Amino acid sequence: MKTIDELLAEGVAGKRVFVRADLNVPLDGTTITDDGRIRAVLPTVKALAEAGARVVVASHLGRPKGAPDPAFSLAPAAARLGELLGADVAFATDTVGDSATATVAGLTDGQVAVLENLRFNAGETSKDDAERGAFADRLAALADLYVGDGFGAVHRKHASVFDLPARLPHAAGYLIATEVGVLKKLTSDVKRPYVVVLGGAKVSDKLAVIDELLGKADRLLIGGGMAYTFLYAKGYEVGISLLQKDQVDVVKEYMKRAEENGVELVLPVDVLVSSDFPDLKTKAPADFETVDADKIPSTKEGLDIGPRTRELYASKIADAETVFWNGPLGVFEHPDYAGGTTAIAQALVDSDAYTVVGGGDSAAAVRILGFDENAFGHISTGGGASLEYLEGKTLPGLAALED
Ligand code: 3PG
Repeated sequence: MKTIDELLAEGVAGKRVFVRADLNVPLDGTTITDDGRIRAVLPTVKALAEAGARVVVASHLGRPKGAPDPAFSLAPAAARLGELLGADVAFATDTVGDSATATVAGLTDGQVAVLENLRFNAGETSKDDAERGAFADRLAALADLYVGDGFGAVHRKHASVFDLPARLPHAAGYLIATEVGVLKKLTSDVKRPYVVVLGGAKVSDKLAVIDELLGKADRLLIGGGMAYTFLYAKGYEVGISLLQKDQVDVVKEYMKRAEENGVELVLPVDVLVSSDFPDLKTKAPADFETVDADKIPSTKEGLDIGPRTRELYASKIADAETVFWNGPLGVFEHPDYAGGTTAIAQALVDSDAYTVVGGGDSAAAVRILGFDENAFGHISTGGGASLEYLEGKTLPGLAALED
């Protein structure tokens, strides 16, 4: 994989460099609630601009349906990038249309432009190779060189991630190099005990990684919405909690395999339950109670791990040498249900282990809850991407940068 340093050494002055970033940041209206992904691509953008390149930054944001949708505009992200760079950043109001062409043509050496959301064009995410290729051809016309730095999207076989690098001389940016370096540490020669904390809503999103980790990790601590499918598989009633009944048999098989492999699979022993999902806008106080994990009332749903579980999980993290954490442990966006996620983040901070926070949601949670990013070994910008890497899959966006 060619590095951006090699590209810089060859000279980029006056060249139009397409930087595929992941500026998919959480928004509240047009307000960015966590700009971590924008800050993560700064080293690459700065290095190119300082070397005199004409930098064309492109990204997706959210999941619009292949047509312009103002709710998913990248304009706020472009403005924030400009603030962080301390420079004017031009913004094209389309992806490959007149505005993009004129904006890129108007760049001078060292200037930066951002294109509108790539997913406003159906070709970006198309399953049809020809449709994706046609969009990639039009993107290629906007640049001389390609730098892949959108780590969060490298698991997507999308035009700007997979097809475009095949059309332009390409290199990996600093963010991708860092992320891949960290994930390599977790997959080869990991220091033990290796503890993995998995949260998040859906167990189906995590099955493949759990399957892989049952042969790699020493302990798996489960929380978040996905924990209720495990508790149900154990024979507990889970009330109206998130439950994926169609995954129960797989989960049972995993629990059996964990035992056979000597992997400690740890489930919540108590949970916070309520009959109502909290109001995340007003953050009005929630009406909840703490119950043992095997005593969830039939009319209530679990929304966070309880205090005894927090202590238990912290004790399982305390002597670890390596910790990987993906997914919030509860509905952390509401203060009454942020305790579990906060406790895990604190346990990582307190441990001497090499700690990696993977995932858009857990990474954002750490920052939104006010933790110092430097207290962690690495905070990844990729949720699905880091999980798929740990699953051992070939990631299209990394494969495309290889040759
Ligand atoms: C993410 O948020 O994980 C990345 O930006 C990828 O987004 P996607 O899941 O919509 O492809």
